[in-house]
Amino acid sequence: MVELTLPKNSKINPGKTWPKPQGATNLREYKIYRWSPDDDQNPRLDTYFVDMDDCGPMVLDALLYIKNRIDPTLTFRRSCREGICGSCAMNIDGANTLACTKGIDEIGGAVKVYPLPHMPVVKDLVPDLTVPYAQLTSIQPYLKTVSPEPAKEWLQSHEDRQKLDGLYECILCFCCQTSCPSYWWNGDRYLGPAVLLQAYRWLIDSRDEATGERLNDLEDPFRLYRCHTIMNCAQTCPKGLNPAKAIAEIKKMMVERSV
Ligand code: SF4
Ligand code: SF4
Ligand code: FES
Repeated sequence: MVELTLPKNSKINPGKTWPKPQGATNLREYKIYRWSPDDDQNPRLDTYFVDMDDCGPMVLDALLYIKNRIDPTLTFRRSCREGICGSCAMNIDGANTLACTKGIDEIGGAVKVYPLPHMPVVKDLVPDLTVPYAQLTSIQPYLKTVSPEPAKEWLQSHEDRQKLDGLYECILCFCCQTSCPSYWWNGDRYLGPAVLLQAYRWLIDSRDEATGERLNDLEDPFRLYRCHTIMNCAQTCPKGLNPAKAIAEIKKMMVERSV
């Protein structure tokens, strides 16, 4: 029989139940993952109650309610609160999504909130994104050219510009990256769906002149070819994008250049 040894701090303990807001009649229950590097304890799941008559409609509103009125130590990232910055990505009700665009009324029962899965945790709901950002840097996500710089701007036809639709909208929230089983197991070597979608965004840009170099860089059994078309990435993307399709297009470009 296989014997598995769980890593230290991997077991989630039952946590504290915080007092209900006084006088509230429209309460909603939240179960939130808590872990701090400072107290050498296992993670725990704390229970909070939010007065929905005094709270906005999104999960981020409830997290802010909890932080401002119940427990100021609750730690999470957020900035734009309108689905643009990507910083409030977390696992809500079992799926990776953005807290600021996830409606509380889309969820039945207690609202369960965890950090993005399979990433080291900095604290509570804050994942350590050092590795995916380093992977993003490795694909050189910017225009690379060799031609003399034009006097005004690099022009692009409407048709070529349209090829970036479904790619430029990516907000780098890493919901897809952290929902991908291949990335869970090979995240040190497989670039993952978010980074490969970005790679394709530059491969397909008519103004970029480093296509061959970019493809050479991706031609590797792990960096590109660990995608097994499981499609979790497309299912979870809060912007409705399809990283799996972008990955398939890169594979097609690889084949086309070899014939
Ligand atoms: S389709 Fe590929 S990138 Fe997307 S979740 Fe599956 S293995 Fe990961
Ligand atoms: S493809 Fe979607 S889920 Fe993935 S990083 Fe971009 S916006 Fe987030
Ligand atoms: S706070 Fe910016 S995407 Fe949610």
